Amino acid sequence: MAKILVTGGLGFIGSHSVVELQNEGFEVSIIDDLSNSSLSVLDGISKITGKVPNFHQFDLKDKSKVQTFFKANQDIKGIVHFAASKAVGDSVKQPLAYYENNVNPLIYLLQEAARLEQVSFIFSSSCTVYGQADILPITETAPIQTASSPYGSTKQIGETITRDTCERHTNVKAIALRYFNPIGAHKSAYIGELPIGTPQNLVPFITQTAIGIQKELAVFGNDYPTADGTCVRDYIHVVDLAKAHVTALQHLLNSKQSSHYDVFNIGTGQGRSVLEIITTFENVSNKTLPYTIVNRRSGDVASAYADTTKANTKLGWTATLPLHDAIQSAWKWQQKIVNK
Ligand code: UFG
Repeated sequence: MAKILVTGGLGFIGSHSVVELQNEGFEVSIIDDLSNSSLSVLDGISKITGKVPNFHQFDLKDKSKVQTFFKANQDIKGIVHFAASKAVGDSVKQPLAYYENNVNPLIYLLQEAARLEQVSFIFSSSCTVYGQADILPITETAPIQTASSPYGSTKQIGETITRDTCERHTNVKAIALRYFNPIGAHKSAYIGELPIGTPQNLVPFITQTAIGIQKELAVFGNDYPTADGTCVRDYIHVVDLAKAHVTALQHLLNSKQSSHYDVFNIGTGQGRSVLEIITTFENVSNKTLPYTIVNRRSGDVASAYADTTKANTKLGWTATLPLHDAIQSAWKWQQKIVNK
């Protein structure tokens, strides 16, 4: 079976994708510098799949290490590139670190990819490229807005770099996946999200509040032009998202086209408000969640949810896991990591 490199394979989305790739029979090698992950994730992956992925710990900003890796691994057929910094607020505080971390490794990987005979490349992009779209649900043809953070900007630049590489080097085929809001964990609770410090994202903040790590959830604004006034997002189960990577990779590996670059939205197609997420969590956990409404968070858009027709029809991929399961798995994972 084809050998696949997964960068950032011990991270949240990366680890779930490694599991799904291994389940499909791929041989996986991971590169991760452990800057936002832990070696224990390797154990979690192996417990689920019964297979230990090859693991290489180094920083992809080290170009010579990237080159050495590829010299020894000329038989790589696919690269799924997750390794990147992802905190929007942080990126505003340290833009250069974000550009260095999210752009340089991508260039180094694509330089090596271009030297291989034939390789399929999946780039982790984000719905953040759309900003506040005028038309909902958002299709892939919606205009790309000026990025509202350096993080968002690195995703836009990353897509452009990947597209231009495919145009020039037809041995590199690529797909950029624009994720909406990934949540949840593997149902086994062997792997999940491990936020460092105070979580910035809604669901980990909710589960940490319910377990007593955080005092209460601050809901950022209830005066948005949405049904209940709170922001609307498209929350997708991380396992569905992981499967989208496998499907996209298989699509490229089987494609007979001589060159290939495409982008796909990966979401459920359903918008949910912050209050709906709280209610679902309360139903799943049988707990009352303490929260207060506070001011809007700067940079938040009112509503974003995907039109997934393109991924459904061209890739044959559809999100199947309900919101309830996603939140239940996140809660199970939270209880597991606290009681460890
Ligand atoms: N929210 C709260 N309280 C919190 C955290 C979040 O009310 O403590 C609200 C936010 O205001 C937003 C919603 O919950 O309305 C979701 O917020 P998240 O931070 O979980 O997710 P975002 O939609 O802001 O961000 C996600 C990804 C980013 C990506 C962005 C693109 O985390 O990587 O989508 O829109 F850039």
